[in-house]
Amino acid sequence: MPVHTLFQGSLCLITLDTPPVNVIGLETRVGLVEALDAADAAGVQRIVITGAGSAFAAGSDTREFDSPPLAPHLPDILNRLERLPSIAAINGVALGGGLEIALACRMRIAAPGVALGLPEVTLGVVPGAGGTQRLPRLVGIASAAALISEGRRFTAEEALRMGIVDAIDADPVAAAKALPEAALADVLPASARPAPVADPEAIAAARARAGKRAKGQFAPQVALDLVAASAELPLPEGLARERAQFLNLRRGPQARALRHVFFAERAALARAKRFSVPPRDLKTAVVVGGGTMGAGIAYALDGIGLAVTLVETGTEAAARAEANLGKLFDDAVKRGKASPEASAQGKARIAVVTGYDALPAADIAIEAVFEDLAVKREVFAALDAALPETAILATNTSYLDVNEIFAGTRAPERCLGLHFFSPAHVMKLLEIIRAGTTSDETLASAFGLAAKLRKIAVEAGVCDGFIGNRILTRYRQICDVMLIEGALPWQVDAAMLGFGMAMGPYAVQDLSGLDIAYANRQRKNLRNAQGLRYIPVADRMVEDLGRLGHKTGAGWYDYGEGAPTPGAGVQALIEAASREAGITRRAFDAEEIRQRALTAMIDEGLRILDEGIARRAADIDLVLLHGYGFPRWRGGPMCEADRIGLPVLRDRIATYAKADPLSWSVPPLLQRLAEEGRSLADLDHEGG
Ligand code: NAI
Repeated sequence: MPVHTLFQGSLCLITLDTPPVNVIGLETRVGLVEALDAADAAGVQRIVITGAGSAFAAGSDTREFDSPPLAPHLPDILNRLERLPSIAAINGVALGGGLEIALACRMRIAAPGVALGLPEVTLGVVPGAGGTQRLPRLVGIASAAALISEGRRFTAEEALRMGIVDAIDADPVAAAKALPEAALADVLPASARPAPVADPEAIAAARARAGKRAKGQFAPQVALDLVAASAELPLPEGLARERAQFLNLRRGPQARALRHVFFAERAALARAKRFSVPPRDLKTAVVVGGGTMGAGIAYALDGIGLAVTLVETGTEAAARAEANLGKLFDDAVKRGKASPEASAQGKARIAVVTGYDALPAADIAIEAVFEDLAVKREVFAALDAALPETAILATNTSYLDVNEIFAGTRAPERCLGLHFFSPAHVMKLLEIIRAGTTSDETLASAFGLAAKLRKIAVEAGVCDGFIGNRILTRYRQICDVMLIEGALPWQVDAAMLGFGMAMGPYAVQDLSGLDIAYANRQRKNLRNAQGLRYIPVADRMVEDLGRLGHKTGAGWYDYGEGAPTPGAGVQALIEAASREAGITRRAFDAEEIRQRALTAMIDEGLRILDEGIARRAADIDLVLLHGYGFPRWRGGPMCEADRIGLPVLRDRIATYAKADPLSWSVPPLLQRLAEEGRSLADLDHEGG
């Protein structure tokens, strides 16, 4: 039974019970109606609502959001609940619809430390069962505006200070039962309370914050409209408006995309549990290379309690590595994340050594040395000799063939790629690279480590650049094609920022260094590659102009005082390249730039999926969202592909291919799915 009722004299205890966290779906709503009917019929003096197990109710069932809503609807149930003498005994987490149930009660008593919140905007919707109208009537416009538009969680103690809960008690059910009759009799239901005082300044401030934090997203702004309206409309009208907006947003593309991401993240977490072997408990780690990545990785591993030794080449490099680590610990103090003492202890904990003689018998070693196959192979040989044969050996290579790095090591089944993103202790994404030889135990352990590091882990097969960097390479290539045909880097960047990307592709290159991508192109000898349209612009930026990005103060942009400006000589260089290629330059508008760039990402994603490099289309989305600044509310490139429609995309690519057959051809998987009328979501669903 999803809802239990227990009558005790003139009291009715209603318990929500859909394990593990009492999510509210159709069955719960039906159960609640029956419970209220029964309580009404018995004429009880008091209703206490609580949750079974460790949760009150963690929200509405998001699986129902893709179908039309079925009666009984939660808002109607809560309107009825509000007229009854009810107390919410918040024994555990109360989110979304769960908190809205509590808000419709006359009083709320919470257990210490429980988490509360109205996180609807993070799923692209607004609270749909009274949250935007009842919360401001309890705490005023300013607090309600902030809580609802940010969707953040808060504790019972914060809720008590704000006036959302009336009391905190270790046994909220007992406290609700024991509450004197008079205490309850005096409390008005929300509908009988005066409307909150309008506060246009607080609304404007929250709007500005949401405009920055959730750029491009509708739901936070709509939520603020509704909170503002609570000061003007009688409760029934405010509730009706809220419901209409909720249903409207729920059907919209942003909510669909955010739900897609929500489920994709859950599927990625579940992947870690699907291995037949349990993960190994990793206690000691060796990190080789203490540069940008190695220092960040060592710091992150230390942060989850591993004993870390960092290997560098010589005393000077070791001193630089110590300085890199020191900076990370100091930053934690500056940001208020660690005390100076804890930070000093941390610095002392990580041993920086030069050479492999005195290494501990580590459970795992992660290599983050220069992106050079020969150097990486040497490191693997040294680790192989210095560590037990069972130690997991991982490389953080961005592009190289991991099989070649592992070749010659004993027991290659314990070797894999762990591709962290910069800064390694901050970025949520980890690509786990499975080589042909990698064992399930090694993979399970890598997923276990990722979970401890609180990272989103995605499994990828071996290819140049794995999932993320392979798509990035293609995206940049197509942007460069647009440069030579008539666009300029700052136009491309502005178009992609308008799409919602965290940064434009050329600004990103300036940040990471044009020499890095240059070295990578040299390695692949792209100038002479068959079947690829060679665009010389980026190579000439390095070779002719020596513009390497931020590190030289000059890249695609010039960096000085104030905002970056278009780089001197960059436009002339691009125009010269067009002339040499016999191209008459033409104007590109933002929409065309976006469409081509996005189509390039989708095209490459489809190939990655078809080749089995990614297991699911949704994994590709997670990589782009968590590693490359793709806007979460668009759900990722593969989610966009389904939204656009696969037949439309096939035709679009076919048109591109007519004009530029070296850059474009219809991916076979796209052709197949479009013909069969299937979507990428269908494909993921079938794959489980
Ligand atoms: P970096 O140049 O900042 O650091 C490399 C470090 O390795 C230096 O401290 C160097 O002294 C050390 N080193 C070189 N040879 C060594 C050896 N034989 N033994 C011990 N230490 C040695 O480079 P970064 O950026 O940290 O990159 C390292 C690896 O991580 C590369 O494979 C790179 O492709 C990959 N990577 C880099 C990302 C980035 O955004 N920087 C992102 C993801 C992966």
